Amino acid sequence: MSSRRPFIVGNWKMHKTVAETVGYVAEFASHLPSSSSGCDMAIAPPFTALSSAVAAAHGTTLQVFAQNVAAEGPSGAFTGEVSAAMLKEVGCQGVIVGHSERRRYYGETDAVVAMKTRRALDAQLLPIVCLGETLAERESGAALEVIARQLRAITDTLTDADVHRIVIAYEPVWAIGTGQAATPDIAQQMHRHIRAIWEATFGASADTLRILYGGSVTADNIAEFTALSDVDGALVGGASLSPSGFANLVRGAL
Ligand code: G3P
Repeated sequence: MSSRRPFIVGNWKMHKTVAETVGYVAEFASHLPSSSSGCDMAIAPPFTALSSAVAAAHGTTLQVFAQNVAAEGPSGAFTGEVSAAMLKEVGCQGVIVGHSERRRYYGETDAVVAMKTRRALDAQLLPIVCLGETLAERESGAALEVIARQLRAITDTLTDADVHRIVIAYEPVWAIGTGQAATPDIAQQMHRHIRAIWEATFGASADTLRILYGGSVTADNIAEFTALSDVDGALVGGASLSPSGFANLVRGAL
């Protein structure tokens, strides 16, 4: 791992009630090693539990992120949507944007992901922008090109002031929830590719860009990823759902 501060994020997806969230945060804190102060940590509960998660995490180093944000805002006639300003108001520090499940099941295009990233930045939230190729795209040899396209949709909209306020997550779709994580070689190659594009666009700020790996990360394999020079942490799904398991995973990342 580099000198960049590691960041481990648990994306709970559509899991956990308010009561379960409050219990989780209390238990997670009790399992944390003291060395975890060297690492940024966040959970991303469903919208309904965000407020309770923020209250439960008060006084700890655990941050609370949302899993999605409206492309519009700060308010308006957009039934079912939640704006960046609303997430900021409840105390979220950031938001996951462009997860492959949003792209795949809810039709989010590169352009929509870029709009959502803009909304997050304008509301002073830290966006974690997810990029990832499908298995078919990898097998056809298009993986590098797909990631470049998804990334350029974001870099095209950023100002110099934004470039230090964003995190990228590389989550190959074929590795999500399959138990088949990317190999360290694939992760390193793609993270290097992302950093090279960032550098070509924004110069030296690429050194400070944090790029997380996501896709079947567990307490058992996290160290293989964080040992890589261009991997700065992880975006974790299933293995973040147990407080003791997630604390263990954080330990493995240090
Ligand atoms: O955003 C995290 C994610 O999609 C990875 O999920 O369950 O493979 O760790 P999982």
